[in-house]
Amino acid sequence: MIEVAEVGPERAGDVVSVIHAGFGAREVLDPPSTATEETVQTVAAALTAHGGLLATADAVPVGALLFEPQGQLLGLRRVSVDPDEQGRGVARALVRRAERVAEERGFEGVLLTARAELPRTVRFWQHLGYAETGREGSLLTLARVLPVRVEAATAEQAQELGRRLAVVLRAGDLVILSGDLGAGKTTFTQGLGGGLDVRGSVTSPTFVISRVHPSLVGGPALVHVDAYRLGGIEELDDLDLDTSLEDAVTVVEWGEGVAEGLADTRLEVRITRARADDTAPVPDGPGPEGDGEEPRDPRTFTFVPVGSRWIGSGLRSALD
Ligand SMILES: Nc1ncnc2c1ncn2[C@@H]1O[C@H](COP(=O)(O)OP(=O)(O)OP(=O)(O)O)[C@@H](O)[C@H]1O
Ligand SMILES: [Mg+2]
Repeated sequence: MIEVAEVGPERAGDVVSVIHAGFGAREVLDPPSTATEETVQTVAAALTAHGGLLATADAVPVGALLFEPQGQLLGLRRVSVDPDEQGRGVARALVRRAERVAEERGFEGVLLTARAELPRTVRFWQHLGYAETGREGSLLTLARVLPVRVEAATAEQAQELGRRLAVVLRAGDLVILSGDLGAGKTTFTQGLGGGLDVRGSVTSPTFVISRVHPSLVGGPALVHVDAYRLGGIEELDDLDLDTSLEDAVTVVEWGEGVAEGLADTRLEVRITRARADDTAPVPDGPGPEGDGEEPRDPRTFTFVPVGSRWIGSGLRSALD
């Protein structure tokens, strides 16, 4: 069983051993990594400053990393796995835990550097949702903005979320909404249209594939697409719109779980009923409160940013 724990300087000895084992087993690069020069003292200093993670298998240290904040992102350094323990999911467990720590500490996402000469390592990170944000020689910077989960108790709150998202969107952005029939995709888009200040009211585009709402304030237009009637996302470009997608914010209402293999850069918004057991429809009319307020029918909105576009976009602070 692999366990991952946050550790401080008291575990510096274990952490430095794993770093030496992990980096020592790697092919020697030019310039070589300085990881093998780490000592108990340098690692203890790093752990004192920002902490780190230690992975153990049956209490034996097998993986480690160090934290180092970089602005809005939590940097990961010296991500190491004991070479005898490769392929057991240690690295993945470290990364997922690091992402939780980043979230708990209020960071927008996670950042790290990787060497271009190690394509398997780079693919590992890409597979976990990390996108290249910079390159200096053979040193790649990879980062991921973490998903943001927000509950909307009522339709009005769902629209408010759309208005808040509008603040961070700009021309060329693609937003993919997924969720069951009646999840709230159109409701959310109505708020988005309000926030973007576009012409015309956003309605369900059931009888047309798409509708263009031009901006009233010189900003991007809103292109609202119903993907049930679209053969595939590649057909988006073939739509005969009187605006270019580069000049618009494009919102696609999609079915559930279809949002894989789309454009490289996009914002996925997954809408679910907040409580899994809450399948019964809410009856019409006032609820037990009887005060005429909208009945609570909460939905969970999960915003999943894909691609480097969202780094530094302020997504989390706009939505939280
Ligand atoms: N918390 C909530 N969030 C969003 N919508 C809510 C909420 N509570 C109630 N509603 C209501 O649920 C309905 C959602 O319908 P909407 O047309 O937005 O869904 P949709 O996902 O676009 O459906 P479709 O798959 O048919 O396009 C609206 O009538 C809205 O008022
Ligand atoms: Mg709809």
